[in-house]
Amino acid sequence: MIPKALSLFLLFEYTVYATSVDAYALGKNLYFEHGCSNCHGTNAEGSSYYPRLAHQKQDYLIQKLNAFKKGIAMTQKQEIMFTFVKPLDQKDFKNLSIYLSKLKKDTSKKYDIEEDLLGVDF
Ligand code: HEC
Repeated sequence: MIPKALSLFLLFEYTVYATSVDAYALGKNLYFEHGCSNCHGTNAEGSSYYPRLAHQKQDYLIQKLNAFKKGIAMTQKQEIMFTFVKPLDQKDFKNLSIYLSKLKKDTSKKYDIEEDLLGVDF
């Protein structure tokens, strides 16, 4: 029989593991459901116009998303983000940031979205 302390420990470890796996999956769903991938890329690799989100620090991402939610932008270009954070809450920010911070940087420079898709002038 497994000693009680060990089984509690295993249960705890499993809970921690399951929580982070769930957050990653939820974050990934949010990323595609809310169209983030349309601008930031399917691997969050970014482009010359849109910033890379993959492998950014979790705290940094949450801080940025919160600022957008409050209507704070450093540049006019960033104001486009106000619309996209509107339907999201703190839990979504957390899940998104867990997903994005765990993504590896894509260094292939292959941005697979047409940059002029949104009529942005370069
Ligand atoms: C229509 C295009 C578009 C969509 C869709 C979009 N973004 Fe953005 N995002 C931008 C632009 C433009 C900026 C600001 C770029 C700059 O500061 O030069 C930005 C900035 C950000 C930043 C700050 C990054 C940094 O390093 O400053 C984060 C985080 C972010 N977006 C997350 C998201 C998330 C999460 C979603 C989906 C819910 C999303 N974006 C959807 C265009 C978009």
